[in-house]
Amino acid sequence: MKILVTSALPYANGDIHLGHLAGCYLPADIYVRYQKAKQRDIIFICGTDEHGVPITIAADLLKKSPQEIVDKYYKSIKDSFTQFGIEFDNFSRTSLTLHHNTAQSFFLKIFKKGYIYPKSIKQFYCSNCKMFLADRYVEGICPHCHKAGARGDQCEVCGRWLEASLLIEPKCKICGSIPESRETTHWFFALSRFQKNLETWIAEKSNWRDNVKRFCEGWFSQGLEDRAITRDLTWGVKVPLKEAQTKVMYVWFDAPIGYISSTIEWAARIGKPESWKDYWLDHKTRMIHFIGKDNIVFHAIVWPAMLMAHGDYLLPSEIPANEFLNLEGRKLSTSENWAVWLPEYLKEFEPDPLRYALATNLPENRDIDFTWYDFWSRNNNELADVLGNFVNRVAQFIKNNYKGRIPKTTDYRNEDNEVLTTIEKTTQSLGELIEKFQIKDGLRLAMTLPALGNRYFDYQTPWKAIKENPKNCERTINVCAKLISSLEILLQPYIPFTTNKIRAMLGLDKRTWDEAKNPVLPDELKKIEVLFPKIDKSKIDAQVAKLGRKQEKETEKKMEITIDDFKKIELKVAKIIAAEKVAGTDKLVKMNIDLGTEKRQIVAGIGMVYPPETLVGKTIILVANLAPAKIRGVESHGMLLATVEGDNISLVTLDKELSPGSQVS
Ligand code: 2FM
Ligand code: ZN
Repeated sequence: MKILVTSALPYANGDIHLGHLAGCYLPADIYVRYQKAKQRDIIFICGTDEHGVPITIAADLLKKSPQEIVDKYYKSIKDSFTQFGIEFDNFSRTSLTLHHNTAQSFFLKIFKKGYIYPKSIKQFYCSNCKMFLADRYVEGICPHCHKAGARGDQCEVCGRWLEASLLIEPKCKICGSIPESRETTHWFFALSRFQKNLETWIAEKSNWRDNVKRFCEGWFSQGLEDRAITRDLTWGVKVPLKEAQTKVMYVWFDAPIGYISSTIEWAARIGKPESWKDYWLDHKTRMIHFIGKDNIVFHAIVWPAMLMAHGDYLLPSEIPANEFLNLEGRKLSTSENWAVWLPEYLKEFEPDPLRYALATNLPENRDIDFTWYDFWSRNNNELADVLGNFVNRVAQFIKNNYKGRIPKTTDYRNEDNEVLTTIEKTTQSLGELIEKFQIKDGLRLAMTLPALGNRYFDYQTPWKAIKENPKNCERTINVCAKLISSLEILLQPYIPFTTNKIRAMLGLDKRTWDEAKNPVLPDELKKIEVLFPKIDKSKIDAQVAKLGRKQEKETEKKMEITIDDFKKIELKVAKIIAAEKVAGTDKLVKMNIDLGTEKRQIVAGIGMVYPPETLVGKTIILVANLAPAKIRGVESHGMLLATVEGDNISLVTLDKELSPGSQVS
């Protein structure tokens, strides 16, 4: 039977962090490595999700094109996955023509079957930016939880999906103006027509995780609604209809089709261009989508409905969705830099201690907290003191007492056979756990073997036996070496860099999973390496201190300028003569200012910190030659200088009184 494994396609607008890894990349990689060792016909497919508003917003912020953004992050995401040992069979990207073609023909097929239809709707339009505001380009107060900062598609605070038109106090994300509602046509996917089939299909999935099933049932009980799958953007897969020339597909429509295009790319790359069909067209293939819980609705409801509408391809057979990983007791937040970024981690540490620390504590059934001290203790107390110590003491013993040659023996005693039987049983049970996606329990079980090895070694006291009963010593060391040989296979899915070192020490080729039950031994050991150096606490303290500290964002990095560039800016001292709030806003203050030779009106977003009455009489510094602009329809001619860190705003003032109009240089 074939297995097609996918991990959610990460957006190419930022680096990978621990939350991503624990959510869907590491568990999938462990699962695939195990299945490959079982010699199953399996491929692991992924790629970057390169469309959608998250990408265009990142591009707007950095004043770059979306293509530049995705090129940069495609490369860095791919590199860090490779360095972390996530071994995809193919890592594609949705900006490729191949993907655009695949998504367009998918769209056309279900359009022709009548599952996509146009509908005229009201949508926010920003007359200042002259565009319809797709999803995240409009922000406001959530109609459900009443928290600010809700986006047009979803509220991050309460997690609800939103209709942008329901946002309270909507604003254009780009310019802050209040958008107007205008008529426009969008194409809708008839999701509601699939509710019955989806319900029956999911009801049969007795082995699915509770979180996924419960989530879907919640959606069904509310009733599935048709969803707009087109957007007014220029970046994305063009809708292949003459009447929809200005529209692109909604990113969540094209992204999962990326699983198909990445498989097509893989097939071409291995020189068997038709072989992708062996997976996608064979309904007996098991398709497994590893995702984080925020992606459940798309993978368990919308995507299967799309596949049902299409009709040719298989449906997912399992969707092991993980819960969230918190960090040091707090929710991960990329904007507050409350995150551990993979490229940053890899600059300081080896991949395996993190693979281990995450795998041993995966958020499989509930949210889990990652702490740096837990990582530290797992490296030093479990990897170094238990696993590393066991391998090292046995290897050193062989080197020092047997000139590196592994004693051969077959006449085992009961206590030796007990260890050998445990190896065999553990191989079996560990495989079963991984197959049930109980990857965390699997690792905990695997780690009982080196612990057993240490106890057995201590109990058998080979350092005494070598003198008193050399035959027993040979037995003990032979069994310990077998344990190491088996661990090389069993731990390979979890800590592959370390097992590579063990394999090099044993001088063996890669073996299959079942060979771990009765592992072979080489005649002698090759190079012996310390597997896990201890990590010094100061390195951990430094990581903890880094959390939440804002890195210099690329958006904030400014290019170097010359003095002539600087001279183009006219900075002048000005005095505020009058100030009042701009009607209908909390933040904006309209001020009349005295510039010595003239009086002017400016508008600034400082009202939350400076009530208008406290501003009158203050001396400020003004960028005087800034072209006039309208803010919320109110003219502003010039910009005052202030430092802004979130809500902490401070006006730049003078330490001596100077008359209005004085030049600042
Ligand atoms: O949530 C995300 O990061 C999305 N880019 C996941 C897409 S998964 C798939 F459907 F492509
Ligand atoms: Zn706007």
